[in-house]
Amino acid sequence: MMKYAFARLLLGFTLLLSWAAASGQEARPGDVQLAGQPAAGARADAAMAPVQNIYGRSHLSLNGRWSYIIDPYENGFYDYRRQAFDASKSGKGGFYDDRKPKDKGDWVEYDFDRAPTMKVPGDWNSQAEKLQLYEGTVWLRQLFEADPKPGRRYVLYFGAVNYEAHVYLNGKKLGMHRGGFTPFQFDATAALKKGRNVVVVKADNTRHQDAIPTVNTDWWNYGGITRDVLLAELPATWIADYKLQLAKGDARRLQGFVQMAGASPAQKVTVSIPEAGVTFAVQPDAKGRAVIDVPVKPLVYWSPQQPKLYAVEFSGGGDKVLDRIGFRTIETRGQDILLNGKPVFLRGISLHEENPLIPGRLRGQGDMRMLLQWARELNCNFVRLAHYPHSEEMTRLADEMGLMVWAEVPVYWTISWTNPDTLREAGRQLTDMIERDRNRASVVVWSVGNETPIGEARNAFMGSLVRTARGLDDTRLVAAALEIHRRGRDITIEDPLAQLIDLASFNEYAGWYWASNAEMLDFRFDIRLDKPVVVTEFGADALGGYHADADTRWSEEYQDRLYQNQFRMLSGIPGLRGMTPWVLADFRSPRRQHPYFQDFWNRKGLISDDGKKKEAFWTLKKHYDEVEKRYGP
Ligand code: GCU
Repeated sequence: MMKYAFARLLLGFTLLLSWAAASGQEARPGDVQLAGQPAAGARADAAMAPVQNIYGRSHLSLNGRWSYIIDPYENGFYDYRRQAFDASKSGKGGFYDDRKPKDKGDWVEYDFDRAPTMKVPGDWNSQAEKLQLYEGTVWLRQLFEADPKPGRRYVLYFGAVNYEAHVYLNGKKLGMHRGGFTPFQFDATAALKKGRNVVVVKADNTRHQDAIPTVNTDWWNYGGITRDVLLAELPATWIADYKLQLAKGDARRLQGFVQMAGASPAQKVTVSIPEAGVTFAVQPDAKGRAVIDVPVKPLVYWSPQQPKLYAVEFSGGGDKVLDRIGFRTIETRGQDILLNGKPVFLRGISLHEENPLIPGRLRGQGDMRMLLQWARELNCNFVRLAHYPHSEEMTRLADEMGLMVWAEVPVYWTISWTNPDTLREAGRQLTDMIERDRNRASVVVWSVGNETPIGEARNAFMGSLVRTARGLDDTRLVAAALEIHRRGRDITIEDPLAQLIDLASFNEYAGWYWASNAEMLDFRFDIRLDKPVVVTEFGADALGGYHADADTRWSEEYQDRLYQNQFRMLSGIPGLRGMTPWVLADFRSPRRQHPYFQDFWNRKGLISDDGKKKEAFWTLKKHYDEVEKRYGP
């Protein structure tokens, strides 16, 4: 038995390498997988390395109403002996066959044609009463017409599926993916047919202790296909990936790379920025990779007050990709954060990927723009997109609207620090986030986690993530939201992770989870780190419209007074250079059970669940107006 298993393993690995080589994609450390099920953190079965700027490719959107079947016992995936249908000899038998009865006597116990439908992109929790708290498997099916051309490569792309996805095209398994907030794609060329095609996805949002995030989070576990689904068409040789940014510490050089893939990857690539009069060519090596490092005359730098984006064209190997890229530098010097060499104060706000007015995950530019517009109304120049990678549309919108971004992976609270699969999963999600958004000027911070409890295994785990982030991108800051430590009346940071990251960034809930409004001013911060201090969370719950005195919890007045007290406390930190109070708008959470004040909502929003601005909204805006006068835009 063992001999056979080893042979399968060898075959599986060999196939991966041969495919990877043919496509010009190096099989990457995280990509090694055992035949059958990929290890957590590995790029999924037959998954392709990301295609950069998928929206810039010729593509068909598969968004729309998908039929769905709720499958709490995974009856459409396992037989009654709990054997996976798609691992059987025939590979058939699962709901992904989309089988129809052959005649009136034929036995088939599912039917997508008669099933209800839901919007994709869109979580299922907010689209059907019986799915509001559902955790498990839902099958989703879409039908579409295609006319594949010989010599072209077809990629089936998912912006995100929470949490685990198994994807089938015309009954053939393309692969599986774990991770609820990062894109993935499969090579669909072989399975794609002329005419009618059937794509079926098994989506499963079950939480797992060893997953990223783990079982305990303070946000709703929205399941399903929560972002765009596209079928992209690529030429036989294509521009798979690229990075083009100003060099770290030298704004007169453009640095990055181009990665070609497909039949003949070693083809010259021309990069041009017509408006800047920049054109240069690079010659990829045999694996399709070319490094970019060229001098450039001064460009108009991207900044919140002037979010300049340049049209950039990459062409080579018969492929051409257009992108809009902003160029800026971000660095720290002592306790200052320098944007384009000038000190800046990060006037921020934290937000979840959820618009209180439109139940569920953000669905498109409309509700994303509403959230970011609210942030602009606060006079923010910075947003913390908590606690997981938001969509590519969101970071492109931030590019356009001039909002700097703190991007974060959901390494949140009590992760399984000693599990190597969990570390691989975290590294995979961090890598996918950085690879997707490495050309977005708005993204200035990569955060490797939030409020993770200090410990030897955790310190090693987080240190590994910091190294991964720095290895992938040396042009941005790397940080995390740390926890504080109280010594009597002093608030300090005693976290070894603080030595590895670029900011002294931490969450503190003076006046809410400890001390009250009346007591919090007795405390003082004693931050002994020669780094810019960014307070990544403070706040208080307030039920919008509930008014009382400033000592009555849950009232708008209590929240408002707490913000005023926070500004007084934080002004005592010499190195304070930013803050992202918690949180822009009320959001849903299964951990918030107070029947009157919460009702499964976290009420720390400055905007209520019916879109009304609470008193503290105006207090923060007034404070930011003063900060802008003092520190500049
Ligand atoms: C924590 C955590 C948030 C949470 C918030 C709260 O610090 O980072 O995700 O929602 O505090 O308790 O409201």
